Amino acid sequence: MNISGNGQRGKFIVFEGIDGSGKSTQIRMLSKRLQDMKLKVYTTFEPTAGTIGTLIRQMLSGKIKIDQRTLAFLFAADRMDHLVNEENGIRKKIDKGELVICDRYYFSSYAYHSQYMDMEWVIHANSLNADTLRPDLTVFIDVEPEECFERIQTNRNDFEIYEKIDIMKKVRTNYLKAFERLRDLEKIVVIDGNKLADHVGDAIFREVMKIIHPA
Ligand code: TMP
Repeated sequence: MNISGNGQRGKFIVFEGIDGSGKSTQIRMLSKRLQDMKLKVYTTFEPTAGTIGTLIRQMLSGKIKIDQRTLAFLFAADRMDHLVNEENGIRKKIDKGELVICDRYYFSSYAYHSQYMDMEWVIHANSLNADTLRPDLTVFIDVEPEECFERIQTNRNDFEIYEKIDIMKKVRTNYLKAFERLRDLEKIVVIDGNKLADHVGDAIFREVMKIIHPA
């Protein structure tokens, strides 16, 4: 069943974190828990699996060289497509009362691209996206960059351009800066992700419940 009754807006929950912070595991665990409550959950991610997202992945792997400003605009364009495309755009799903969970959204852009450009520029480049849909909740899984780096090294052979320890440290700092900058406009929770996955999952579930069934 949808989370809201007739004519009511759904909820948009976003997960953020540096590479290796355990977002995918936590999204899987949360979706299962919500589905067990008979809620219909749509999970999705950015960069998307669409045309622009696929192009972006080739740039992240280093296969295609790209200027960082152009890459930031591509992410913003991929995001707009994710929101409004006819087939499975998130905006329509939210309007229909669905619960949508997304792995990364515009805070990823603020954190990753402000390594190269002023954060205000990146926020401005995404302003149409923010006007189209602001998350009801952004969950930031905060894990020590050293720990994330170790997890990535253990689990994979191929690395994307941002999967380097100094970049990961910078990105974490940028996330915290972006949260501070936008704290009056956005609902953000920072979850300590250094604990066992089940404990992290419980903390996230409690926060999500406050959004789904406010007291
Ligand atoms: P993933 O590893 O979570 O699939 O994300 C792919 C990479 O894309 C990750 O290193 C973060 C980066 N990214 C940006 O640089 N800007 C963005 O707007 C998004 C959504 C992701």
